[in-house]
Amino acid sequence: MMVKDDEWKAVEGICIFFQLIVYDQGRDFDIINHRVDFDVREISILGRAMNNIFRKKNKQIVSDRRLPRHIAFIMDGNGRWAKKRGLPRNMGHREGSYTLKRIAKDCSEIGIQYVSVFALSTENWSRPKEEVAGLLNLLREFIRSADKEIAENNIRIRFAMSREGLPEDILSEIDRIMEKTKNIKGTQLIIALNYGGKDEIVHAVKRIAQDVSENRLKPGDIDQSLFSSYMYLPDVPEPDMIIRPSGEKRISNFYLWQAAYSEFWYSDVLWPDFDRKQLEKALEDYEKRDRRYGGISNENKNY
Ligand code: FPP
Repeated sequence: MMVKDDEWKAVEGICIFFQLIVYDQGRDFDIINHRVDFDVREISILGRAMNNIFRKKNKQIVSDRRLPRHIAFIMDGNGRWAKKRGLPRNMGHREGSYTLKRIAKDCSEIGIQYVSVFALSTENWSRPKEEVAGLLNLLREFIRSADKEIAENNIRIRFAMSREGLPEDILSEIDRIMEKTKNIKGTQLIIALNYGGKDEIVHAVKRIAQDVSENRLKPGDIDQSLFSSYMYLPDVPEPDMIIRPSGEKRISNFYLWQAAYSEFWYSDVLWPDFDRKQLEKALEDYEKRDRRYGGISNENKNY
């Protein structure tokens, strides 16, 4: 069970009230008429104790931080990590898959609700055969071990992908793990696989055209919100932040439609070396960002 911030604040508020009654009986309490003016941010002793119990139970850190709801990672730099050590590129990808497991758990602990990772793009098929075969094998291993190593941490696994061209055994493993984790209410780990942003848009356009030609939809019905509902995972909110390590600063055909107002964060660290410290740096930076969505910030609204 994951406790949402507002649910926790309610519990915390009750605890503070309770503590006020116990420790501060000299005050005039009248909660109905709001004569007791308590600040829900003020952590009571009881609140702290309950917070600790909740943290342990949920393995979640409940915080007042302004966290992104959805972070998307472009897991770049595996090849360079391997090359620096004189290892084959696939060793870099393997190390990258360990980072993915660690970061998914970190995000779940911090309370990030959605985590996307770009695991294989529609363009990656053009890489040398052995590298593609190695990536597919890693994926098989990853999904097989995901029950134990990921789902046990209250993480649901989903895929944003085109099924076209993927081997049958991988497709059935994907279906199995999605089904098995579908009722998990914690963080959703979304693996973008055989994924391309342009491809997803074309896929949506084809389905919309089909619905129009079969009279399920009128051209006038098409707007941004309808279009979003034809994406691979329409219920997943757009990424608040996209993180790309390894020094590259481009989107590389990831989440083209969904990235319209995403905050970008870059780092020179290669993905296999990406760790909790890097993640915390990105989150600190995110908290300072002024997200205007094309408007102006509140402080500038008066002049
Ligand atoms: C880009 O780095 C990375 C990829 C094309 C693959 C990412 C895949 C993994 C981390 C494997 C794990 C994923 C799953 C779901 C098992 P690059 O090789 O292009 O790096 P480079 O720019 O240094 O060459």
